[in-house]
Amino acid sequence: MKPALVVGNWKMHGTRSDAVKLATGALEASRRNRRVEVVLAPPFTALAAVAAALRRGAVKLAAQNLHWEAEGAFTGEISPQMLRDLGCRYVIVGHSERRRLFGESDATVAKKVGAALSAGLRPILCLGETLGERRRGRTNGVIARQLRVALKGLSKGAIKKITVAYEPVWAIGTGKNATLEQIATVHRFVRGLLRRRAGRGAQAYRILYGGSVRPDNAAELAAEPGVDGVLVGGASLKVDAFASIVRSFGARAV
Ligand code: PGA
Repeated sequence: MKPALVVGNWKMHGTRSDAVKLATGALEASRRNRRVEVVLAPPFTALAAVAAALRRGAVKLAAQNLHWEAEGAFTGEISPQMLRDLGCRYVIVGHSERRRLFGESDATVAKKVGAALSAGLRPILCLGETLGERRRGRTNGVIARQLRVALKGLSKGAIKKITVAYEPVWAIGTGKNATLEQIATVHRFVRGLLRRRAGRGAQAYRILYGGSVRPDNAAELAAEPGVDGVLVGGASLKVDAFASIVRSFGARAV
């Protein structure tokens, strides 16, 4: 079984010195919980500072977004190669804020996933339904479509490098949690789709949950066998809260 993965997505928060403080706290949490893989996704502006702070330790660096071209006339964009150059190992792709606020389509997300993989970055692919879609009984349909488009044309080997994060849009930054049953059901569904697409090894995939993960609900998430880790937004901006979430996954029976 792969170690649990706990990812902190800092979104658009903090100066470089805030970032280094958070990174130092996460390093300490990682040292105390060696069975957990800890990944931090600072804003682009803090990637270099956080990379330096993480030099000695097992915490890995992620970006929150990328462009799909290696270089060119794309004002304001950052390429996968630039992220590699900064020391990134992972990149978040298709976060619902990118889809909803910045118009990223399934097709755009697919280009980004492909570009990340080609550059040697591991995509953390976010999928999730809105509340309206859930109420209309469309959860599985939406997730299947998002996943199908994102994986189109990829080899089985490439797909195995992807981590999926199930993030119901209505649970992100709202304090509302999906129930364990809702989460387990979607994770099972995603695992089944991955297995069909990429073969049996899909059992080894890590499927994360994200959406209002906090210290007070991390232990029950960690106890759910289908949840291989979490993508944490708000609570990753506090050293103690993030460390407590890492601890919950460190303490789970494997
Ligand atoms: P949240 O964000 O933990 O603040 O709900 C999660 C995410 O957006 O990945």
